[in-house]
Amino acid sequence: MKGDEIRSRFLKFMEGKGHLILPSASLVPQDDPSLLLIGAGMAPFKRYFTGQAKPPRHRIATSQKCVRTGDLENVGRTARHHTFFEMLGNFSFGDYFKSEAIPWAWEFLTEELGLPREKLWVSVYTDDDEAYEIWSKEIGVPAEHIVRLGKDTNFWEIGPGPCGPCSEIYIDLGPERGCGSATCGVGCDCDRYLEIWNLVFTQFDRDAEGNYTPLPKKNIDTGMGLERIASVLQGVPSNFDTDLLRPVIAAAENIAQVEYGRQTKTDVALKVIADHGRAIVYLIGDGVLPSNEGRGYVLRRLLRRAVRFGRLLGIAEPFLTRIAEAVVGVGRIGYPDLVEKEGYIKEVIAREEER
Ligand code: GLY
Repeated sequence: MKGDEIRSRFLKFMEGKGHLILPSASLVPQDDPSLLLIGAGMAPFKRYFTGQAKPPRHRIATSQKCVRTGDLENVGRTARHHTFFEMLGNFSFGDYFKSEAIPWAWEFLTEELGLPREKLWVSVYTDDDEAYEIWSKEIGVPAEHIVRLGKDTNFWEIGPGPCGPCSEIYIDLGPERGCGSATCGVGCDCDRYLEIWNLVFTQFDRDAEGNYTPLPKKNIDTGMGLERIASVLQGVPSNFDTDLLRPVIAAAENIAQVEYGRQTKTDVALKVIADHGRAIVYLIGDGVLPSNEGRGYVLRRLLRRAVRFGRLLGIAEPFLTRIAEAVVGVGRIGYPDLVEKEGYIKEVIAREEER
């Protein structure tokens, strides 16, 4: 199943559950000085969770463009780190809670996407007996496939704002993808148990000092990385091998006249170029310009990093506008505005690359 189809199936499924489907918000936060860039599906909706603003509907679902730079050095070296990615999410602002969010997530994965039930595992927050019971009694997940995990993995927050304990759904990709350790299981750092969906029970508001205040109402915030679920459904070893990224790698292979999949060093450079190429295109498309501060600096740094990895592949000429064309080619169905902005995006890239 192609990335575009997964996105539209998710949104259609959630529409069927009463959600208002909104287009992705801009990567540039609106009225939120606490954030440099949007890094999660829930980020544009913080004020709906806290009750400071009234949502157009109490159920919303989106596929949200996200940029995160916290793990920059890992990008290209692992199967799943990205600066730019898309997050599928359904949100309840004081409306439904665990008893709906959990069965819907299960229904979408097993019935709509057809994932095998016996390969799915779930985690719940240490003392969340309510979520445990729903998974166990209502859904019928066997006890040996439900694990209780602590705050480091099963409490979701991103800076100040709405947050809460969460329940995650994992897929077992098989022992051949694992580390082989006797203690390997859900929560292990290796690639065997892949977290595919995070269901957050948003009950608190965290302030800048780290204090947690209960929110007036209980909410749901879920996050499922589109590239990741695409890698599972397409049966490929990494997000970079999905139809959402592979064509961008192919463009870089073509420019550098190298082949993907032969040498680790070359592959890392190709993946960095593909990843950063996507971030650059979507950031410029959302109005960010290269500069020496704030989000403009994030863009400048990613663009220059992409150029440096191009140099490592032996590319001596400006090349990023060709990468941008591949990114727009992949994104045109989900983000038709990219096609309209393509000329502008390429101009900004060309000017900065020249500098
Ligand atoms: N907001 C939930 C997540 O990003 O996993």
